[in-house]
Formats: sequence, structure tokens, C-alpha cells
Amino acid sequence: MRNRMIAGNWKMNKTYTEGVILAQGLAKELADGSGDVDVVVCPPAVDLKGVAEVIEQEAAPFALGAQNVYWEEKGAFTGETAPDMLTNVGVRYCIIGHSERRGYFGETDEDVNRKAKALMAHSLIPISCCGEPLEVREAGTHVDFVVDQIKKDTAGLTIEDPSAYVVAYEPIWAIGTGKTATADDAQEVCAAIRATLTEVFGATTADGIRILYGGSAKPENVAGFLDQRDVDGALVGGASLKADSFAAMVRAAM
Ligand code: PGA
Repeated sequence: MRNRMIAGNWKMNKTYTEGVILAQGLAKELADGSGDVDVVVCPPAVDLKGVAEVIEQEAAPFALGAQNVYWEEKGAFTGETAPDMLTNVGVRYCIIGHSERRGYFGETDEDVNRKAKALMAHSLIPISCCGEPLEVREAGTHVDFVVDQIKKDTAGLTIEDPSAYVVAYEPIWAIGTGKTATADDAQEVCAAIRATLTEVFGATTADGIRILYGGSAKPENVAGFLDQRDVDGALVGGASLKADSFAAMVRAAM
């Protein structure tokens, strides 16, 4: 049994003050709770502490996630954030391997794999992103492309508790473009991801790992994705920047 997950990726939006206001708004929207749905918000790093305080003060039914981490413990890595620094301010999840980090900042599958290991060693839950660019989709090799990413991203990982590792399938051509994959497109790749996780970790573990869809997910289309057998939630960019639309997606998942 997999609890659904709705995770908001704020990307590089919301100052500290705006982030606190958004978190307060979301706490109000979700004052009646989120049922069995695991809700995560991933603000920019400088907003994390402020959002953590809102979660605590309002006893809000969502958890805190970061958007990036470095795998070393500490030291001369200017501009980076260590796992310990995240846990210390109340972070429980961390997005890794997002296509924007891969594309703009050169993050490789090897980096994603190291980050996953570092996070899990600190009891932080990776939300590990994968997904194909448009030319791969058009060539029809998207399933092979994503399966290869999953194998590299999970190499040598040990997963004891399947709820402690999350995958997000985000076709790059559907991110922030308004172009959504169809529910069938999402299911096709998410099923292949689960089959690969089964090969790597065995069926019992793979059956418990949440696989999210991401890419122009919004209140109007999220139900169609959630209906799919291997889609367990959504990683939401644009629609997570307003409390009402993000809360509507949580309610759709309840
Ligand atoms: P989007 O972003 O919902 O704005 O397409 C999703 C993501 O990149 O995580």
C-alpha cells in the first residue's frame, strides 16, 4: 500500500517573506488535514527555516523538502549545503536530479546517485527525478532512456524502507511548458520505472516506492494521472506557487 504524495517544487521563486506567507496560506487551506496523502513543499534554501517555523507553529500537515544537497559532510565547498544542514532545520525530503539541475548545472547520474546515498545516510528522503528530452520522446526511445537513468541513479543503493525513496518521472518537454504528457504516457514510463526498481530491489521494495508524475501538473489534470496504476502522486512546479491550487491538488489525491 503506497500513500499518495503531492510535492511542491517552488524552484527559484518566493523570497523568505513570500515563502512564509505561502506556507501560512497552505496551512490554512489544509487546516482539516491531508488524509493519507503525504504533502511536501520544497522552497528555496534560504526559505527553509522560515517554512519550518510555520509548519511547527501551525501544526501544518505538510513536510519540508529541499531542492538540492551536496554529498560531502562539510568543508571547502563554497555555495553548497550538506545533508546535516538540512536535517538541522527540519528538512525531511530533498529533490535530486531535477532536469533543470542536470541541464543548467551539469548534474550527472553519478552525482544523483551520490546525493541519494548521502541523503539516505542522514535519514533524508530523496525525490529522485528522471525524464527524457523532447528529441528522445520523438525518437520513441524514452522508456530505454529513463530505465537507464533509474539504473544509474540507484546503483549500489540500499533501500530498507520503501517509503524512504521517491522517484519523480518528469518528461522534460512537459515541464513549465503547459504541454502535459497524457495519463497513458505517464503510466507507460512509470510502469517501466517500477519494473526496473523490481529488477534492482525486488518486488516487495519496488511495490512500496512512490513514483510521482511531474510536468505541468495542475488541479484540472492531476486526477487523471493519479488514476494510473503506477503513478502515486505529483511533483508540482507552477501550480505549487499558489496555496489554493496546490491545496486543490492535495484534495484531489485524498
Ligand atoms: P511544472 O514543473 O509543474 O511547472 O511543469 C514541474 C517540475 O519541474 O518539478
